[in-house]
Amino acid sequence: MLGTGYLGATHAACMAELGFEVLGMDVDESKVAALSEGHIPFYEPDLEPLLRKHAESGRLRFTTSYEEVAAFGDVHFLCVGTPQSKGEYAADMRYVNGVVEGLAPHLDRPCVVVGKSTVPVGTAARLQELITALAPAGERAELAWNPEFLREGFAVEDTLRPDRLVVGTSSETAEATMREVYATAIAAGTPFLVTDFATAELVKVSANAFLATKISFINAMAELCEATGADVTVLADAIGHDARIGRKFLNAGLGFGGGCLPKDIRAFMARAGELGVDQALSFLREVDAINMRRRAHVVDRARDMVGGSFLGTRVGILGASFKPNSDDVRDSPALNVAGQIQLQGAQVTVYDPRAMDNAAVLFPTLAYASSAVEACTGADVVLHLTEWQEFREMDPSVLDGVVHEKRIIDARNALDQERWRDAGWTYRALGRP
Ligand code: UDX
Repeated sequence: MLGTGYLGATHAACMAELGFEVLGMDVDESKVAALSEGHIPFYEPDLEPLLRKHAESGRLRFTTSYEEVAAFGDVHFLCVGTPQSKGEYAADMRYVNGVVEGLAPHLDRPCVVVGKSTVPVGTAARLQELITALAPAGERAELAWNPEFLREGFAVEDTLRPDRLVVGTSSETAEATMREVYATAIAAGTPFLVTDFATAELVKVSANAFLATKISFINAMAELCEATGADVTVLADAIGHDARIGRKFLNAGLGFGGGCLPKDIRAFMARAGELGVDQALSFLREVDAINMRRRAHVVDRARDMVGGSFLGTRVGILGASFKPNSDDVRDSPALNVAGQIQLQGAQVTVYDPRAMDNAAVLFPTLAYASSAVEACTGADVVLHLTEWQEFREMDPSVLDGVVHEKRIIDARNALDQERWRDAGWTYRALGRP
């Protein structure tokens, strides 16, 4: 497993669980040391016990040596990140290129290199040439492209029981190896689709583009609902009953963030431009714009609620991670809103059940509290920005004597509005009357 971040650590632990001998490789020595002891540097339900189980059984080990993994592995999974490049939309390919250039010169026997990273279409064909040129094994070091669809918060479940497996390869040997790797899931009936490289690469980015579009679609409807007094949550339920549409990913609110959807749709647009088909994806610009507008909209609504200016006000923020059950704050809509409000002159205090440390690194100037009650103390308005179970279940009365004004914006449409209103709160949601 090359790269032991979110994807690599999860895939490594799950492959060990499936019975394989796994060696994880990372250039970061401190990460390797922590993983070897069974610790993960992020929050992901169910992952740490699995990692510890297999670190103890000896089936899962970690190293910083390319030579060691090359000698060890029959299958090499590339699991490094492809973040957005600084100052442009395109994906930053330096980690993918670096890991192939580090590994390939040591591949001296038949093996399959399996790309899992989300990459611009055309990458696999280029990497296959690079591997053939650099590896002593030449063409016997084969490449397959096997995109990863895991959701943070459900990473172990999604890896052990994926809803589909996609393998891009033109080699029968590589296909046979991948069928062996995923034998358990295949036996359980998981669809296994064999494609060419380009299709496999496109499956991943087009799935993310579709999901992002679905979210922005319902958020655009939320704008219409606000202009007309309609209720977007009821609208989503009603259209969601149409099996062709489906109710999933139709939760209107603050929109999408995280380390995948935003950067993946941008890299997809950039790649389409390079291929001369930018018009095909120009709708994604609108998807992105609708999504970013949600953040500004919540800031505007909050400012209205405190009388037109944030100067001298206090704002309590519930949630910092980009979604619940994660401590990931990459492109987090919640932190983006918190930061904007602070820049407009409010005193902003944030509480999140898991993401406080990461949030403090990214936005060190915000104030952080160790509980929801503390974050809302003296608040002129409370903003519910990430729908953790803790907030959904919260009894409004615990904040009654604490806040300065009983006002809340539920930017995820996830709280029980009757309950808050009955407790005397001015409750506002997005896209609802
Ligand atoms: C996503 C894809 O789901 C996954 O398949 C892909 O491999 C990586 O990117 P992830 O980033 O973990 O996974 O998050 P996801 O659960 O998809 O949520 C993305 C964002 O959309 C979150 O910010 C979430 O709050 C938001 N969202 C999701 C909505 O605003 N409304 C919805 O109805 C669903």
